[in-house]
Amino acid sequence: MGNGHPAEHDGRTRVSLPSDLLTLLACPECRGSLAEDGLTLICAHCASRYPVTNGIPQLLPAVLAAGAPTDPAWKAWAGALDRLLAWRRRTWDGGVRAQTFQRAVSEIQAEFIRHCRLDEAQGSVLDVGCGSGEIAAALPVGCRYVGVDPLPLPGTSGLQMIRGVGERLPFRVAAFDLVLVLETLDHCQSPNALMAEILRVLKPEGRLCVEQYVTAPRWRERFPRLLRRYTAPGRPAPADSAKVILLDAPDVRVLLESAFAEVRAGRASQGSHVFLAARWRRDASGGS
Ligand SMILES: C[S@@+](CC[C@H](N)C(=O)[O-])C[C@H]1O[C@@H](n2cnc3c(N)ncnc32)[C@H](O)[C@@H]1O
Ligand SMILES: [Zn+2]
Repeated sequence: MGNGHPAEHDGRTRVSLPSDLLTLLACPECRGSLAEDGLTLICAHCASRYPVTNGIPQLLPAVLAAGAPTDPAWKAWAGALDRLLAWRRRTWDGGVRAQTFQRAVSEIQAEFIRHCRLDEAQGSVLDVGCGSGEIAAALPVGCRYVGVDPLPLPGTSGLQMIRGVGERLPFRVAAFDLVLVLETLDHCQSPNALMAEILRVLKPEGRLCVEQYVTAPRWRERFPRLLRRYTAPGRPAPADSAKVILLDAPDVRVLLESAFAEVRAGRASQGSHVFLAARWRRDASGGS
Protein backbone atom coordinates (compact mmCIF):
# COMPACT_ATOMS: atom_id res chain seq x y z
CA MET A 1 0.00 0.00 0.00
CA GLY A 2 2.03 2.97 -1.25
CA ASN A 3 1.69 6.54 -0.07
CA GLY A 4 0.58 9.12 -2.59
CA HIS A 5 2.88 12.09 -3.08
CA PRO A 6 3.40 14.79 -5.65
CA ALA A 7 6.01 13.90 -8.28
CA GLU A 8 7.91 16.17 -10.62
CA HIS A 9 6.77 15.92 -14.23
CA ASP A 10 8.12 18.21 -16.92
CA GLY A 11 9.03 20.70 -14.19
CA ARG A 12 5.47 20.70 -12.81
CA THR A 13 3.91 18.77 -9.94
CA ARG A 14 1.66 15.98 -11.11
CA VAL A 15 -0.92 13.89 -9.30
CA SER A 16 0.42 10.67 -7.81
CA LEU A 17 -2.20 8.89 -5.73
CA PRO A 18 -1.74 5.45 -4.18
CA SER A 19 -2.73 2.83 -6.76
CA ASP A 20 -5.08 1.04 -4.31
CA LEU A 21 -6.94 4.35 -3.86
CA LEU A 22 -7.33 4.87 -7.60
CA THR A 23 -9.01 1.49 -7.91
CA LEU A 24 -11.69 2.64 -5.41
CA LEU A 25 -12.46 6.02 -7.02
CA ALA A 26 -15.13 6.80 -9.63
CA CYS A 27 -16.43 9.89 -11.38
CA PRO A 28 -19.20 11.53 -9.26
CA GLU A 29 -21.12 12.37 -12.47
CA CYS A 30 -21.17 9.10 -14.42
CA ARG A 31 -19.33 6.60 -12.14
CA GLY A 32 -16.72 5.99 -14.82
CA SER A 33 -13.23 5.05 -13.69
CA LEU A 34 -10.69 7.79 -13.01
CA ALA A 35 -7.09 7.93 -14.13
CA GLU A 36 -4.27 10.34 -13.40
CA ASP A 37 -3.62 12.81 -16.17
CA GLY A 38 -0.92 15.32 -15.34
CA LEU A 39 -2.31 17.68 -12.72
CA THR A 40 -5.81 16.21 -12.61
CA LEU A 41 -7.90 13.05 -12.49
CA ILE A 42 -9.82 12.37 -15.69
CA CYS A 43 -12.94 10.24 -16.15
CA ALA A 44 -12.47 7.50 -18.76
CA HIS A 45 -16.18 7.68 -19.64
CA CYS A 46 -17.33 11.35 -19.67
CA ALA A 47 -13.87 13.04 -19.68
CA SER A 48 -14.72 15.26 -16.67
CA ARG A 49 -11.57 16.51 -14.95
CA TYR A 50 -11.03 16.80 -11.21
CA PRO A 51 -8.14 18.58 -9.50
CA VAL A 52 -6.17 17.12 -6.60
CA THR A 53 -5.22 19.63 -3.92
CA ASN A 54 -2.63 18.69 -1.29
CA GLY A 55 -3.30 15.01 -1.94
CA ILE A 56 -7.11 15.47 -1.65
CA PRO A 57 -9.00 14.62 -4.86
CA GLN A 58 -11.72 17.25 -5.42
CA LEU A 59 -14.63 15.01 -6.43
CA LEU A 60 -17.70 17.15 -5.86
CA PRO A 61 -20.49 16.62 -8.43
CA ALA A 62 -21.00 19.35 -11.02
CA VAL A 63 -24.06 20.70 -9.16
CA LEU A 64 -21.66 21.79 -6.38
CA ALA A 65 -18.30 22.16 -8.07
CA ALA A 66 -18.99 25.49 -9.79
CA GLY A 67 -19.40 27.67 -6.67
CA ALA A 68 -22.74 28.45 -4.99
CA PRO A 69 -25.42 25.93 -6.09
CA THR A 70 -28.62 27.20 -7.68
CA ASP A 71 -30.68 24.04 -7.12
CA PRO A 72 -32.98 24.94 -4.17
CA ALA A 73 -32.30 21.79 -2.12
CA TRP A 74 -28.53 22.07 -2.52
CA LYS A 75 -28.71 25.82 -1.87
CA ALA A 76 -30.45 25.21 1.47
CA TRP A 77 -27.86 22.51 2.28
CA ALA A 78 -24.98 24.89 1.45
CA GLY A 79 -26.45 27.50 3.83
CA ALA A 80 -26.60 24.93 6.64
CA LEU A 81 -23.00 23.88 5.87
CA ASP A 82 -21.85 27.51 6.24
CA ARG A 83 -23.59 27.65 9.61
CA LEU A 84 -21.93 24.35 10.61
CA LEU A 85 -18.52 25.90 9.83
CA ALA A 86 -19.38 28.97 11.92
CA TRP A 87 -20.55 26.70 14.78
CA ARG A 88 -17.28 24.74 14.59
CA ARG A 89 -15.22 27.93 14.86
CA ARG A 90 -17.26 29.17 17.82
CA THR A 91 -17.22 25.81 19.64
CA TRP A 92 -13.72 24.41 19.12
CA ASP A 93 -11.90 27.49 20.40
CA GLY A 94 -9.45 25.62 22.67
CA GLY A 95 -11.25 26.90 25.80
CA VAL A 96 -12.57 25.02 28.85
CA ARG A 97 -16.02 24.61 27.27
CA ALA A 98 -14.46 23.02 24.19
CA GLN A 99 -12.55 20.55 26.39
CA THR A 100 -15.71 19.54 28.26
CA PHE A 101 -17.50 19.11 24.97
CA GLN A 102 -14.63 17.05 23.53
CA ARG A 103 -14.75 14.72 26.57
CA ALA A 104 -18.48 14.10 26.00
CA VAL A 105 -17.90 13.46 22.28
CA SER A 106 -15.06 11.02 23.05
CA GLU A 107 -17.21 9.07 25.54
CA ILE A 108 -20.03 8.67 23.02
CA GLN A 109 -17.54 7.61 20.37
CA ALA A 110 -15.98 5.01 22.68
CA GLU A 111 -19.44 3.48 23.25
CA PHE A 112 -20.08 3.52 19.50
CA ILE A 113 -16.78 1.75 18.82
CA ARG A 114 -17.75 -1.01 21.28
CA HIS A 115 -21.32 -1.31 19.98
CA CYS A 116 -20.14 -1.70 16.38
CA ARG A 117 -17.00 -3.71 17.26
CA LEU A 118 -14.87 -1.43 15.15
CA ASP A 119 -11.74 -3.02 16.58
CA GLU A 120 -12.65 -6.12 14.49
CA ALA A 121 -13.05 -4.18 11.22
CA GLN A 122 -11.20 -5.43 8.16
CA GLY A 123 -10.50 -4.30 4.61
CA SER A 124 -11.53 -1.01 3.07
CA VAL A 125 -13.42 1.48 5.25
CA LEU A 126 -15.27 4.57 4.03
CA ASP A 127 -16.10 7.35 6.52
CA VAL A 128 -18.89 9.52 5.07
CA GLY A 129 -18.90 13.06 6.51
CA CYS A 130 -15.48 12.33 7.98
CA GLY A 131 -14.59 15.81 9.30
CA SER A 132 -11.05 15.35 10.63
CA GLY A 133 -11.32 11.55 10.46
CA GLU A 134 -10.82 11.00 14.20
CA ILE A 135 -12.60 7.64 14.11
CA ALA A 136 -9.81 6.19 11.94
CA ALA A 137 -7.71 5.80 15.11
CA ALA A 138 -10.18 3.13 16.33
CA LEU A 139 -9.64 0.88 13.29
CA PRO A 140 -7.13 -1.95 13.32
CA VAL A 141 -3.83 -1.38 11.54
CA GLY A 142 -4.24 -2.77 8.02
CA CYS A 143 -7.68 -1.29 7.31
CA ARG A 144 -7.70 0.95 4.25
CA TYR A 145 -9.37 4.14 5.58
CA VAL A 146 -10.87 6.72 3.19
CA GLY A 147 -12.77 9.78 4.45
CA VAL A 148 -15.17 11.76 2.26
CA ASP A 149 -16.52 15.17 3.17
CA PRO A 150 -17.51 18.37 1.33
CA LEU A 151 -15.25 20.12 3.88
CA PRO A 152 -12.46 17.67 4.68
CA LEU A 153 -10.53 19.00 7.68
CA PRO A 154 -6.78 18.81 7.82
CA GLY A 155 -6.84 15.92 10.27
CA THR A 156 -4.47 13.44 11.77
CA SER A 157 -1.52 13.03 9.46
CA GLY A 158 -1.58 10.37 6.79
CA LEU A 159 -5.37 9.93 6.50
CA GLN A 160 -6.69 9.70 2.95
CA MET A 161 -9.41 12.31 2.46
CA ILE A 162 -11.60 12.95 -0.58
CA ARG A 163 -13.68 16.06 -1.16
CA GLY A 164 -17.16 14.91 -2.14
CA VAL A 165 -20.71 14.36 -0.92
CA GLY A 166 -22.53 11.26 0.25
CA GLU A 167 -25.38 11.67 -2.23
CA ARG A 168 -22.94 11.25 -5.15
CA LEU A 169 -20.19 9.12 -3.67
CA PRO A 170 -17.11 9.22 -5.93
CA PHE A 171 -16.41 5.51 -5.54
CA ARG A 172 -16.92 2.35 -7.54
CA VAL A 173 -19.58 -0.30 -6.98
CA ALA A 174 -18.74 -2.69 -4.12
CA ALA A 175 -15.55 -0.84 -3.19
CA PHE A 176 -15.86 -1.01 0.63
CA ASP A 177 -16.18 -3.62 3.37
CA LEU A 178 -17.43 -1.11 5.93
CA VAL A 179 -19.06 2.33 5.73
CA LEU A 180 -19.14 4.66 8.76
CA VAL A 181 -21.53 7.61 9.09
CA LEU A 182 -20.98 9.61 12.28
CA GLU A 183 -23.18 12.60 13.11
CA THR A 184 -23.78 13.30 9.42
CA LEU A 185 -27.29 12.08 8.49
CA ASP A 186 -28.82 15.33 9.77
CA HIS A 187 -26.30 17.47 7.83
CA CYS A 188 -26.63 15.92 4.39
CA GLN A 189 -29.03 17.08 1.71
CA SER A 190 -30.84 13.74 1.30
CA PRO A 191 -30.44 10.83 3.76
CA ASN A 192 -32.34 8.56 1.36
CA ALA A 193 -29.96 9.32 -1.52
CA LEU A 194 -27.09 8.76 0.89
CA MET A 195 -28.42 5.30 1.82
CA ALA A 196 -28.76 4.34 -1.85
CA GLU A 197 -25.18 5.41 -2.50
CA ILE A 198 -23.86 3.55 0.53
CA LEU A 199 -25.56 0.38 -0.74
CA ARG A 200 -23.93 0.89 -4.12
CA VAL A 201 -20.39 1.23 -2.78
CA LEU A 202 -20.64 -1.54 -0.15
CA LYS A 203 -19.52 -5.07 -0.92
CA PRO A 204 -22.12 -7.82 -0.52
CA GLU A 205 -22.14 -8.71 3.20
CA GLY A 206 -20.54 -5.32 3.89
CA ARG A 207 -21.56 -3.39 7.01
CA LEU A 208 -22.84 0.10 7.71
CA CYS A 209 -22.28 1.62 11.16
CA VAL A 210 -24.05 4.83 12.14
CA GLU A 211 -23.66 7.12 15.13
CA GLN A 212 -26.29 9.83 15.23
CA TYR A 213 -27.55 12.55 17.56
CA VAL A 214 -31.33 12.23 17.84
CA THR A 215 -34.01 14.62 19.03
CA ALA A 216 -36.50 13.79 21.79
CA PRO A 217 -38.98 11.05 20.90
CA ARG A 218 -42.11 12.06 19.09
CA TRP A 219 -45.58 10.54 18.97
CA ARG A 220 -44.28 8.13 16.32
CA GLU A 221 -42.15 6.41 18.94
CA ARG A 222 -45.30 5.36 20.82
CA PHE A 223 -46.86 3.67 17.79
CA PRO A 224 -43.80 2.46 15.86
CA ARG A 225 -45.23 -0.67 14.23
CA LEU A 226 -48.40 0.98 13.08
CA LEU A 227 -46.87 4.15 11.73
CA ARG A 228 -43.38 3.25 10.62
CA ARG A 229 -44.31 2.31 7.10
CA TYR A 230 -46.37 5.45 6.51
CA THR A 231 -43.85 8.05 7.62
CA ALA A 232 -40.77 9.38 5.89
CA PRO A 233 -37.68 10.00 8.00
CA GLY A 234 -36.83 13.45 9.26
CA ARG A 235 -38.42 16.84 9.42
CA PRO A 236 -36.85 20.11 8.28
CA ALA A 237 -34.56 21.83 10.77
CA PRO A 238 -35.26 25.53 11.50
CA ALA A 239 -34.01 27.72 8.66
CA ASP A 240 -31.15 29.15 10.76
CA SER A 241 -29.94 25.74 12.00
CA ALA A 242 -26.61 24.12 11.09
CA LYS A 243 -28.58 20.92 10.47
CA VAL A 244 -30.66 20.22 7.38
CA ILE A 245 -33.15 17.86 9.03
CA LEU A 246 -34.00 16.73 12.54
CA LEU A 247 -34.10 13.01 13.24
CA ASP A 248 -35.48 11.06 16.15
CA ALA A 249 -34.45 7.49 16.97
CA PRO A 250 -37.23 5.82 14.91
CA ASP A 251 -36.36 8.04 11.94
CA VAL A 252 -32.81 6.70 11.89
CA ARG A 253 -33.97 3.13 12.32
CA VAL A 254 -36.55 3.44 9.53
CA LEU A 255 -33.92 4.95 7.25
CA LEU A 256 -31.54 2.03 7.72
CA GLU A 257 -34.25 -0.63 7.63
CA SER A 258 -35.42 0.72 4.27
CA ALA A 259 -32.11 -0.39 2.79
CA PHE A 260 -30.44 -2.90 5.09
CA ALA A 261 -31.21 -6.14 6.84
CA GLU A 262 -30.08 -7.08 10.36
CA VAL A 263 -30.18 -3.61 11.85
CA ARG A 264 -28.87 -3.73 15.43
CA ALA A 265 -29.65 -0.57 17.38
CA GLY A 266 -28.33 0.79 20.65
CA ARG A 267 -28.22 4.05 22.54
CA ALA A 268 -25.44 6.04 24.16
CA SER A 269 -25.68 5.93 27.96
CA GLN A 270 -26.47 9.67 28.15
CA GLY A 271 -29.41 9.08 25.80
CA SER A 272 -29.26 11.64 23.00
CA HIS A 273 -27.29 9.51 20.50
CA VAL A 274 -28.09 6.22 18.79
CA PHE A 275 -25.74 3.60 17.36
CA LEU A 276 -26.78 1.29 14.54
CA ALA A 277 -24.94 -1.54 12.87
CA ALA A 278 -26.51 -2.86 9.66
CA ARG A 279 -25.68 -5.50 7.13
CA TRP A 280 -26.26 -5.29 3.40
CA ARG A 281 -29.51 -6.89 2.15
CA ARG A 282 -28.74 -9.18 -0.73
CA ASP A 283 -31.97 -8.57 -2.61
CA ALA A 284 -31.69 -4.76 -2.23
CA SER A 285 -29.57 -4.31 -5.33
CA GLY A 286 -30.42 -7.37 -7.29
CA GLY A 287 -27.88 -9.66 -5.63
CA SER A 288 -28.54 -13.36 -5.15
C1 LIG B 1 -21.19 17.08 12.75
S1 LIG B 1 -19.96 16.81 11.54
C2 LIG B 1 -19.39 15.17 11.94
C3 LIG B 1 -17.94 14.95 11.58
C4 LIG B 1 -17.35 13.59 11.99
N1 LIG B 1 -18.04 12.48 11.34
C5 LIG B 1 -17.42 13.43 13.49
O1 LIG B 1 -18.22 12.64 14.00
O2 LIG B 1 -16.64 14.13 14.17
C6 LIG B 1 -20.92 16.52 10.06
C7 LIG B 1 -20.05 16.38 8.83
O3 LIG B 1 -20.86 16.05 7.71
C8 LIG B 1 -20.33 16.71 6.58
N2 LIG B 1 -21.37 16.74 5.53
C9 LIG B 1 -22.34 17.66 5.37
N3 LIG B 1 -23.08 17.36 4.29
C10 LIG B 1 -22.57 16.22 3.76
C11 LIG B 1 -22.91 15.43 2.62
N4 LIG B 1 -23.92 15.76 1.84
N5 LIG B 1 -22.15 14.33 2.37
C12 LIG B 1 -21.12 14.00 3.18
N6 LIG B 1 -20.76 14.72 4.27
C13 LIG B 1 -21.48 15.83 4.56
C14 LIG B 1 -19.90 18.06 7.13
O4 LIG B 1 -18.99 18.74 6.31
C15 LIG B 1 -19.30 17.65 8.47
O5 LIG B 1 -17.92 17.38 8.37
ZN1 LIG C 1 -17.54 10.66 -15.78
